[in-house]
Amino acid sequence: MDLDSLRADLENLRRGALERIAAASEPAQIDQLSVDLLGKKGELTLVLRGIGGLPAEQRPKVGAIANEVRQAIEGALAERGGELRTGALGRRLQAESVDVTTPGRPIPRGSRHPIIETMAEIAEVFGQFGFVVYESPEVEDDLTNFQMLNIPPDHPARDLWDTMYVDIPEHLLRTHTSPGQIRVMHAERPPIRALLPGRCFRYEATDASHASEFFQVEGLMVDEGTSLADLRGLLDQFAHAMFGADKRTRFRPGYYPFTEPSVAFDVECLICGGRRCPACSHTGWMTILGAGMVHPVVLQYGGIDPERYQGFAFGMGAERIANLRHGVGDLRLYLENDLRFLEQFP
Ligand code: PHE
Repeated sequence: MDLDSLRADLENLRRGALERIAAASEPAQIDQLSVDLLGKKGELTLVLRGIGGLPAEQRPKVGAIANEVRQAIEGALAERGGELRTGALGRRLQAESVDVTTPGRPIPRGSRHPIIETMAEIAEVFGQFGFVVYESPEVEDDLTNFQMLNIPPDHPARDLWDTMYVDIPEHLLRTHTSPGQIRVMHAERPPIRALLPGRCFRYEATDASHASEFFQVEGLMVDEGTSLADLRGLLDQFAHAMFGADKRTRFRPGYYPFTEPSVAFDVECLICGGRRCPACSHTGWMTILGAGMVHPVVLQYGGIDPERYQGFAFGMGAERIANLRHGVGDLRLYLENDLRFLEQFP
């Protein structure tokens, strides 16, 4: 090994190294080149092994050249590495950048079911008169759903409510919200002003005007001196709030075993205004609820002294109220949850 060939080797190494460094396209390649070229077992070390075969006075010369080559390579590595690292960072920033000014994708919003909405509005109207919302179970016992409401086991009025029974003896799915009256009377002392919205069940074949599940809103007031006139006044306020202040109303005689007297509460036909049309079966009136003075026997079952207190109660079908307000003609629409229907109640 002589000086000239060692020098040539170093020059070749430098040239080759600089080309490879210039050609690198990733920061990781620079790291690898650094090891390959300058590492303990790298190419420069390999070339310098030849130094031992030179005469002593020539060694410093080669050493100087080797240093130069090393510095040149180090410089090139640092420079290209820096370029690549900023380039890589730039590309990453570019690729991962988020434009916070882009308008967001709208998330579709649900809305309240028209029946729930209707019951909330009913509760709001009665809430203004001091009525408080109570809950009462959907699985009820025969005693509370019927007997305490003055409907004994063999009473013909049971035919009014086609009942769905459950596996628990003496239990059923409540056929109306009226058993809630008993539960409130057991839980509270007069004065009582209770509103009981809830799902009810009857054994019915489903069609446009019959459903085996539906919602009712029950009302109960118990106090000293409560009268039928109070009931009439309250229901008028309700009808005016829900259907319009100009609407005429009327009481008709009705029958329920748990109220005496019992009434049907009518509002003038919302379609023809009373001139008689098919929508009101040519009567000019639409029945919106059943009501009456709480039967003394029912007060007694509720633990309330009928000599001292009187009460009135009313019960309405939430679907019927919603139908009248929104012009819906088929009860099945409320249960199908077809978005094309529900979206019309934003
Ligand atoms: N519970 C009766 C029904 O299911 C409605 C009603 C409630 C009538 C309260 C009078 C008093 O139709």
